[in-house]
Amino acid sequence: MTDNPIGIFDSGFGGLTVAREVLDQLPHEAVLYMGDTARAPYGPRPIAEVRQYALECLDRLVEHGVKALVIACNSASAAMLADARERYDVPVIEVIRPAVRRAMAVTHTGRVGVISTVATHQSRAYIDAFAAAPPYVQVFSQPCPRFVEFVEAGITSGPEVIAAAREYLAPLQDADIDALILGCTHYPLLTQALSYVLGDQVNLVSSAAATAAELFRVLTDADDLRSMDLPAPTHQFLTTGDPHGFTPLARRFLGPEVEHVGRAYVGRPGE
Ligand code: DGL
Repeated sequence: MTDNPIGIFDSGFGGLTVAREVLDQLPHEAVLYMGDTARAPYGPRPIAEVRQYALECLDRLVEHGVKALVIACNSASAAMLADARERYDVPVIEVIRPAVRRAMAVTHTGRVGVISTVATHQSRAYIDAFAAAPPYVQVFSQPCPRFVEFVEAGITSGPEVIAAAREYLAPLQDADIDALILGCTHYPLLTQALSYVLGDQVNLVSSAAATAAELFRVLTDADDLRSMDLPAPTHQFLTTGDPHGFTPLARRFLGPEVEHVGRAYVGRPGE
């Protein structure tokens, strides 16, 4: 399996922030990315629907022979945290537990904030993932529905974003958090705006970096890393929507490596 690509799945473009970290931390690995752009965003959808869509996409990646699966979408991870590992023979890495472990490592006061989509917030997946934490740890979850819209529109700074950040983050500031999990794939693109509002005393935890580090650990433990002697890897990108529309925004999230973009078909015809 060593030469097979790593399958990375997201509802759309945001998982490319995770893919970026994977390319940086595992530069010899090939990536097969799949974004369910035709049915995104997942954030406002009921959790059962998110689960069904995500399973269809993950099944498709497994059919392509990937050696590991990364569920790069927080909403999808929240919807299937319990059962994705039982369904597939390859290792499954999701974004929630790696981010929680990282937040536990950086918090001094034990007061941790989580910002996310509505689906992730309502699933309580982050709260549950902190269940084994010591009693002094307190978690404060805040949905930020407009952040995804801003990022997809290319608005990552300016008065509108800062005003929204002030509004969403106020309850977390009142709770006196010292660590904040960016519990949505799009939020790393808002890092500067979030830091501006929160100040340096709050550590921002990106699930992208923590997830890529977890993937590195899993592949190293399994002795399943691609050989450095092989030619440079080729990355492939699949979208359930229009491949031509995918490329420009995908390059903004990931960079120039987005070259080979194809169409994936999932769900019933017309869906
Ligand atoms: N990828 C989603 C997440 O991380 C954000 C975009 C969406 O709502 O589909 O929750």
